[in-house]
Amino acid sequence: MKLVLSIVLVAGLVTVQAGEYTQRFLELYGEITNSNNGYYSKEGIPYHSVETMMVESVDYGHETDSEALSYNIWLKAMYGGISGDFSAFNEAWNVIENYMIPETQYNTDKYDPSAAASTSTITAGIDPIGNELKSSYGDNNLRVMHWLLDVDNIYGFGNTQGNCELGPSANGPSFVNNGAGSLFQGITYPTCDSFKYGGSNGFSWYSSVPNWQYSAAPDADARSILGAYWASQWATQQGKLSDISSTLSKASKLGDYLRYTFFDKHFKQIGNCVGGTVCPAGTGKDSAHYLISWYIGWGGAISSNGGYSWRMCSGEAHSGYQNPITAYALVNDPNLKPSSASAVSDWQASLERQLEFYQWVQTSDGPLGGGVTNSWEESYADPPAAVKANTFYGMWYKSQPGYEGASDWFGMQSWSMDRLAQYYYLTGDSRAQSVLEKWVSWILTQINVQTNYLTTPVSLSWTGNTPWDAKASVSGYGNMIGISSSIARTLTYYAAKSGNTQAKSMAKQMLDNMWQNNRDSIGLSVTTSVDSLSQVTTKVYIPISGWTGVYPNGEQINESSTFLDIRSFYKNDPNWSQLQNYLNGGSAPKINYHRFWEQADMALALGAYGLLFNE
Ligand SMILES: *[C@@H]1O[C@H](CO)[C@@H](O)[C@H](O)[C@H]1NC(C)=O
Ligand SMILES: *[C@@H]1O[C@H](CO)[C@@H](O)[C@H](O)[C@H]1NC(C)=O
Repeated sequence: MKLVLSIVLVAGLVTVQAGEYTQRFLELYGEITNSNNGYYSKEGIPYHSVETMMVESVDYGHETDSEALSYNIWLKAMYGGISGDFSAFNEAWNVIENYMIPETQYNTDKYDPSAAASTSTITAGIDPIGNELKSSYGDNNLRVMHWLLDVDNIYGFGNTQGNCELGPSANGPSFVNNGAGSLFQGITYPTCDSFKYGGSNGFSWYSSVPNWQYSAAPDADARSILGAYWASQWATQQGKLSDISSTLSKASKLGDYLRYTFFDKHFKQIGNCVGGTVCPAGTGKDSAHYLISWYIGWGGAISSNGGYSWRMCSGEAHSGYQNPITAYALVNDPNLKPSSASAVSDWQASLERQLEFYQWVQTSDGPLGGGVTNSWEESYADPPAAVKANTFYGMWYKSQPGYEGASDWFGMQSWSMDRLAQYYYLTGDSRAQSVLEKWVSWILTQINVQTNYLTTPVSLSWTGNTPWDAKASVSGYGNMIGISSSIARTLTYYAAKSGNTQAKSMAKQMLDNMWQNNRDSIGLSVTTSVDSLSQVTTKVYIPISGWTGVYPNGEQINESSTFLDIRSFYKNDPNWSQLQNYLNGGSAPKINYHRFWEQADMALALGAYGLLFNE
């Protein structure tokens, strides 16, 4: 790592002598962290976006997700790398521990790794890491991030850390889950459901037992470890490793638990897994695909009387979730190696498997295809012959693993390729290089830099049954700050290692163009006409006919309720008049969103360019 900075300490102020791009990093960092600008809650938790009228993955802008917290780690790691001050990095990790890794996990002492979660139609295998983690950390709690947090407790469930349904008066961030159905149909519900709110069984459609459940988005946990790895590198170079060593041990522990992302949903054998009771249950690591998969779920009963707890993994792996840096870090950085006996060898296997996967899943044109599943139609069905013709460790190609549309969003390409480019930058691995060469030569033909604007692909559409015949067509071009930034960062890392001058020049042009055209007083933004908000009149999804319930704030939920009906807080939103006008037949709200992850993505692209090229 090239890091030629002279750091001068003057009266407690850190002055950095650096190039233009690191200066821009510091300028943007200053805006993101300025408490007047609205990116963070009073607890120091980054919101999904400054603006609250925001429905995309979260259903309110002042919810947050593990993604935002992971970007916060990486952003603050780089701030340490540039300024020499790692205290913000340590604090960012405390936010993860204090607010996103849930403590309320009743009955985990009843978890039996040898009987994970069989059903009448699926024989589940054994969980091969449960006992190992218990012996490393002393209990059966699972320690990864839940993915969704109602930071301002706007729903009023009051599932604050360590508590279950304290209600609207609880002061502090509350763990929630998105409801079933589309985002606009979903009934947001509490992670810990004591049946205090909702219907007679709370928000549980199929359980009459008060219960809790969490789910992780493992790409975010992995991104946090990536950030910790860079902090470790930069702190080592500056002789400041001891400043962050306790944080690194927390990241290492997260990496230990994150291995749950490697397993089939029901711990069944990986590969050619057809038939819920026919495909063999795993007996050890034969249930591991070793890729970063879609989710980890865990939960249980609240009462200890007849209590139980369960864990579920995922056999759906998307190319957009892979993170070879995290795998590399957990194997090679002595400060990050997890302590469980088989953890390092598992992550080593993951590193190799991910690199093979990138090569296998890349389409002939350059874009990465979707991914693979171990469970066709999510029921261990028998796939069509065309799918069976080309498998990955016996797993089936799926253009849209996870959910329909997962591969359409271009960030799945640029986020993942950026991580592969960082890995290539560190190691020079020829497997990474060949995938990057092809992807970079394709993306360079797709970026249009003009004086007043910039466009890149922002969405794709897909055809094909296997990576052999999979084809992506660009279905939308535009400038999304986060996507453009992650493309620029990919080109930066790739250029720094390969010496490709075209990639370097394009990265610079993109960064300059956005700095010129998209700056505003609190970061970077583009004006978006938010047509999707017409869907606030969508009726909520209730799978059981006749179900009715009540939210903590007294709002009624029934089959005729709409998204907006159960979220009347939107009527107090600073942007409400625009939405009201839209619903009355006017034009769609025009909002300059400031998504936390996008601001961080841009800052990280500027900082990477500055650090790698000393410009
Ligand atoms: C929308 O709300 C944001 C704050 O969330 C505010 O900065 C912006 O000015 C509002 N826009 C309009 C057009 O009301
Ligand atoms: C159904 O819920 C809506 C608000 O979500 C409420 O306005 C309406 O009165 C409720 N209907 C009944 C029959 O309770």
